Amino acid sequence: MLIPVRVFAGVRREEHPLNWYNILVPYPTNWIEIDTSALHENAQAIQAYIGAGRTLWAVVKADAYGHGAPVVAQALLQAGISHFIVASLNEAVVLREALKGQPFRLMTLYPPTTPAEWRTAAEYAVESVVDSLDGYRQACEVAKVFGRTLPVHLEIDTGMSRLGLTAEQIEPFLAALCPDAPVRWQSVFTHFACADSNAEFTREQLHRFLQDVERLQAAGFPRTPLHAAASAGMLTVAESMLDAVRCGLLLYGIAPTGLETHPLCQNLKPVLCWRARVISIRTIPEGQSVSYGARFRAERPTRVATLSVGYADGYPIGLTNLAPIALHGTLVPQIGRVCMDMLMVDITDLPQTRVGDVATLIGRDGDAEVRVETLARLLNTTPHEITTRLGKRARRVG
Ligand SMILES: Cc1ncc(COP(=O)(O)O)c(C=O)c1O
Repeated sequence: MLIPVRVFAGVRREEHPLNWYNILVPYPTNWIEIDTSALHENAQAIQAYIGAGRTLWAVVKADAYGHGAPVVAQALLQAGISHFIVASLNEAVVLREALKGQPFRLMTLYPPTTPAEWRTAAEYAVESVVDSLDGYRQACEVAKVFGRTLPVHLEIDTGMSRLGLTAEQIEPFLAALCPDAPVRWQSVFTHFACADSNAEFTREQLHRFLQDVERLQAAGFPRTPLHAAASAGMLTVAESMLDAVRCGLLLYGIAPTGLETHPLCQNLKPVLCWRARVISIRTIPEGQSVSYGARFRAERPTRVATLSVGYADGYPIGLTNLAPIALHGTLVPQIGRVCMDMLMVDITDLPQTRVGDVATLIGRDGDAEVRVETLARLLNTTPHEITTRLGKRARRVG
C-alpha cells in the first residue's frame, strides 16, 4: 500500500529532506541511518585540530559521499560550518534550493565550461573554479554582461594532472590578467595526489604550489586565502593546512586508507549506519551451494539468512564471500554471490536469528562493528568509493 506523500510523517513533499523514492514506500527494505550529532562532533573535532583561524570547507559532493547532502549540510550549518564544496553546478543548485534562505558559501570543483554555466553559477551565488586562461576570459565576459563581479577560485596543477593551471600556463595567464576584471579572487588552491601514501611527494607539491603563488603575487595577483589539504593531507603533512582545508572523509568519521590510527581519526565517530532486514531463513545440507554461480558451497549443514539488500543498493558485488556483516552483536560471514536485491549470510552460529531481525552492513551493532575502511580494504579501493556508491533505494533516516 502506498500512502499519500502529503501525510507521510506529517511532512510536505517539498519540505522533506530525505529521498523521494522511499517516501512513497513505507516499508523500507534497507536503510541508512545518519547520526547528525556525530557529524556535529566530528566537525568540532576537526575545527579544533586545524585551529580556529583556518576555514573548514566541508566537502559534500556526491550527495555528501552518499550520506545525503541536504541533511549533512543542514547539520553542519548547525555546527557552525558555513563553507561547502560540491563537484558540479547541478549539485550546487540542489543544495542551494534545499537550504534556501540560509547563508552559506558554496564552491564547485568543476570549472564552468560554457557562458550558460557561468550565468547559472552567478544566479545561485556559486563560487566557481578558474582553471585555465579560457575559463578566466569566459568568467570576465559573463560578468560584464551580467553586470556583476563573479567570485572565483584559482586552481593550480602541482602534480595531479587533472585540473588547474600548469606551471607553463601561469605566464600567459598572468599576461592576460587584468586588475579591473569583474572577478573577485576568493582563493588559490591545489590538490594533492598521494597525501595518504607519500608525504615526500605531497611536500614537493606543496613547495611547487607556494612557489607558484609567489610568482602570481609578484606579478600583481591579489593575496587570497590558500588551500591544498584534504583529509589525508591534514593528517600527514600538517604544514599543508595553510589558510583553509577542504575536508570530506574525516567529517563522515571515516579515516583515509592507512591513517586509521591517527589520533584525530580515533576521535571521530562514523556518521552512517546501513542496515537491512532478514527476510528469509533456511538450512541447507553440507555440499549445497548458495546464490548465482555456486560460489559458496556449505562445508557443514548451514543456516542461511537472506537480507533485503544487494548490489542495486550499492553493496559491492566484489564483497562476495568476503565481507563481515553484524547481526545480534556478532560478525557473521556473507556467503554466495551478492545478488541485485538480496545477499545471504551464514547464521549457523546465531540460532536466535529470526525473520525481521536487523543486520548491519556498515556501522555498529552492540560489540560488533563493520567499518567502511574494512570494506574498502577488502576491495582494494578507497572508503570514498564505498559510500558514494550507496544507492538511492536505501532510505536515509535521521
Ligand atoms: C579537490 C578536492 N578537494 C577535497 C576533497 C576531499 O577529499 P577527502 O574526502 O579525502 O577529504 C576532494 C575529494 O575527492 C577533492 O577532489
